[in-house]
Amino acid sequence: MRRESAGARLLQVFLRRYARREARAVAPFVLGPRVLDLGAGEAYVAEALRELRPASICSADVGVFARTPGPYVAYDGWRLPFSDGGFDSTLILLTLHHCSAPEAVLGEALRVTRRRLIVMESVYRSRMERFWLELLDGRLNGLRHCGRMGVAERFRTADEWQALFESRGLRVVETRWPGAWWERLVHHPLLFVLDKRPAGVLDSRGGTAWTATPRGSCSSSCGVATRRPSRR
Ligand SMILES: C[S@@+](CC[C@H](N)C(=O)[O-])C[C@H]1O[C@@H](n2cnc3c(N)ncnc32)[C@H](O)[C@@H]1O
Repeated sequence: MRRESAGARLLQVFLRRYARREARAVAPFVLGPRVLDLGAGEAYVAEALRELRPASICSADVGVFARTPGPYVAYDGWRLPFSDGGFDSTLILLTLHHCSAPEAVLGEALRVTRRRLIVMESVYRSRMERFWLELLDGRLNGLRHCGRMGVAERFRTADEWQALFESRGLRVVETRWPGAWWERLVHHPLLFVLDKRPAGVLDSRGGTAWTATPRGSCSSSCGVATRRPSRR
């Protein structure tokens, strides 16, 4: 077995600590016992969240990148192998800007979630902030998943993300800046707590809000077998 370099091990220590902060930031907003962590990466957030609240947490990503035990599902990046409304809450943390089609991923998250989405996104407010975001995100995340993580290209402003969420009928319940003061010198993670509207509720533009038809649920093993990612 190949040993990891000291630098790679240090990176994992940092990521695990960072994930604990993410878990603390999202824990008060998680609703219900069935939670999906979409774009879970190493699954450190699920590990930390289990210590903070009792929940059945399933991680999903486009490959098996888990470094912690627990249910983990690899999928093709387009269609989640879960039934409609199978989760009470879904986390999408620092992930949408890494997706080749963020709208499609959000749509799938909406389909499999019954009540609440919790999204954390790295946003920028100026050209300088965008410069740092691109530089640091590329440097740090380029080292993850053995260098296989897709480059983040879809950075947006807070208003642009909010417009996307509202266009899907989501109600913004809360926004927060969870980063530490030192982090916010160069990185601005913004937390959106988003609720699905009940069936038939009209959105502010008069259209009918998106609703899921709950069909099934996720067992503690997510109801599907974890599989290896196909080669890309
Ligand atoms: C910066 S990492 C965030 C990992 C974890 N959520 C966290 O906060 O530590 C972004 C993750 O998005 C995943 N990703 C990229 N495209 C995706 C897609 N279409 N669906 C789900 N996850 C995706 C990547 O594989 C990567 O693990």
